[in-house]
Amino acid sequence: MLHRATATKERPEGWQGYVVPQCWEAFSADDHAVWDLLFARQVELLGSRVVAAFLDGIDLLRLSHPGVPDLDELNAILQPRTGWKTVAVSGLVPDDIFFAMLSAHVFPVGNFIRKREELDYLEEPDCFHDLFGHIPMLAHHRFAEMARHIGELGVAAIAAGEGERASRIYWHSVEFGLAQEHGEQKILGAGLASSFGEAHFSLESDAVERLPFSIARAVNTPYRNDVFQPRYLVSESLEKTITDVLALTPETLLAL
Ligand SMILES: [Fe+2]
Repeated sequence: MLHRATATKERPEGWQGYVVPQCWEAFSADDHAVWDLLFARQVELLGSRVVAAFLDGIDLLRLSHPGVPDLDELNAILQPRTGWKTVAVSGLVPDDIFFAMLSAHVFPVGNFIRKREELDYLEEPDCFHDLFGHIPMLAHHRFAEMARHIGELGVAAIAAGEGERASRIYWHSVEFGLAQEHGEQKILGAGLASSFGEAHFSLESDAVERLPFSIARAVNTPYRNDVFQPRYLVSESLEKTITDVLALTPETLLAL
């Protein structure tokens, strides 16, 4: 899910009220072919430009299996591994619901895929972004725990009227972060890993800023969700960012 601020709808069931059937059987042959096309294109594009854990996650979760993944089959591997599961949603969910899902080890996945004519234009994140971009990292315990913790921080921050603080942490790490690995800058965030246009741009453009990631900088760095990012925060290492985020309390987040 490409996390965005949207209005909260009245749904008494909480996050569970946003879950819909994936209806995997309803994906057409062309939908599956579009997944295969996107998957092959993106893996080739990324090469070694992404953190190693991402590529390991693809293998661990067998995401290279042809066709749109069946969430039940995916969960059968993912849930015993890190306690996370995916659920289908019909589109973007409000921030409070999104963070509540994360805090419950639940990741929302759009129950649709872009059309062949719109391979690189997305009005809202589809299952390719959500599954290819996000799920590989959730195969790793420490990252999965960080994502859950961000969910808890988000719930607390929204309750305090400061949801944007948690959103920025998420944005500059899980969604659009870069990370140093073996002396090179690599893609970490799902928004980059799943993007045909922005993956190389984030690493190679001379027109953007790349600043060291810190919790304080992330919390105080605004972002836009409708353009390529003008700046990226670069983790000293993925593990360092995970450690720093896990050490962050709601009280500290609100004081930064
Ligand atoms: Fe996302």
